[in-house]
Amino acid sequence: MTDTTSMKHQTLLTSGDFTAADEPFALFEAWLNEAIKSEPNDPNAMALATVDQDGLPDVRMVLMKGFDSEGFVFYSHIASQKGRELAANPKAALLFHWKSLRRQVRIRGNVTPVTDAEADAYFATRPKQAQIGAWASKQSQPLESRFAFEQAIAKVAAKHVIGEVPRPPGWSGWRITPVRIEFWHDRPFRLHDRIEFRRDAAGHPWSKTRMYP
Ligand SMILES: Cc1cc2nc3c(=O)[nH]c(=O)nc-3n(C[C@H](O)[C@H](O)[C@H](O)COP(=O)(O)O)c2cc1C
Repeated sequence: MTDTTSMKHQTLLTSGDFTAADEPFALFEAWLNEAIKSEPNDPNAMALATVDQDGLPDVRMVLMKGFDSEGFVFYSHIASQKGRELAANPKAALLFHWKSLRRQVRIRGNVTPVTDAEADAYFATRPKQAQIGAWASKQSQPLESRFAFEQAIAKVAAKHVIGEVPRPPGWSGWRITPVRIEFWHDRPFRLHDRIEFRRDAAGHPWSKTRMYP
C-alpha cells in the first residue's frame, strides 16, 4: 500500500526547490496542479483586490478560469461593483492561498477585458442553470427578496426552455497581466521562503528576488 502521508510530505520538502525557478508561469502551473490534488474544493479560487474611486480597497473571491503567459482570467458581471471599479481603475491584485499546501501566490498587474469571442467560448461551457442565473442576476444591486430572484430566474428559464442560452451583454471576463508574482511557502518557525518575480511591463524579462519572510 502506498503511504500517501509520506508522499505528500516528500512533495512539500522537494518543492523547496521552487526558489530555483527563473520564470513564474511554469512554477504557478506546477503549484496549481499540486493544489488541484490536495485542496478540498476550488483550487482555482483567488481573492481579487480592486480600488474604488476614493482609492478605498475592495476584495472578494473569484474563480480563475484560465491562465497563460498573458495573464490570469476570471468572469463576472460588467456592472457589478468589481466591474465598475475595474472600468475606473484597470489595475488589480490577486491572491491564491492553498491551505493544504501552506502556500500563497500574490499577483499584481494591469487589467484588460477579454475579447467577446473568449467570453462567448467560456460562457458556452457553463451549465445551463448558471447561464440562466447570469441573465437573472443584477450582481451587486440590492435584491428585495430571494423570491424576487427566483421569479427572475424562472422568467429567463421559460424563455430558454429550448435552445442555447446566449451570453448576456453585461457579462464578460478580465485578464490580469502580471508585473509582479510572489511565491510564498511556509517553512518551520516562520522562516518562510519568498521569491518575487518582477518585470517592467508585459513582454519584458522577469527579474527574481528572494525576500526576507
Ligand atoms: C470561492 C468563490 C468563488 C467565486 N467566484 C466568483 C466568480 O468567478 N465570479 C463572480 O462574479 N463572483 C464570484 N464569487 C462571488 C464574489 O466573491 C462576489 O460576491 C461577487 O462577485 C460580487 O462582488 P462585487 O460586488 O465586488 O462585484 C465567488 C465567491 C466565492 C466565495
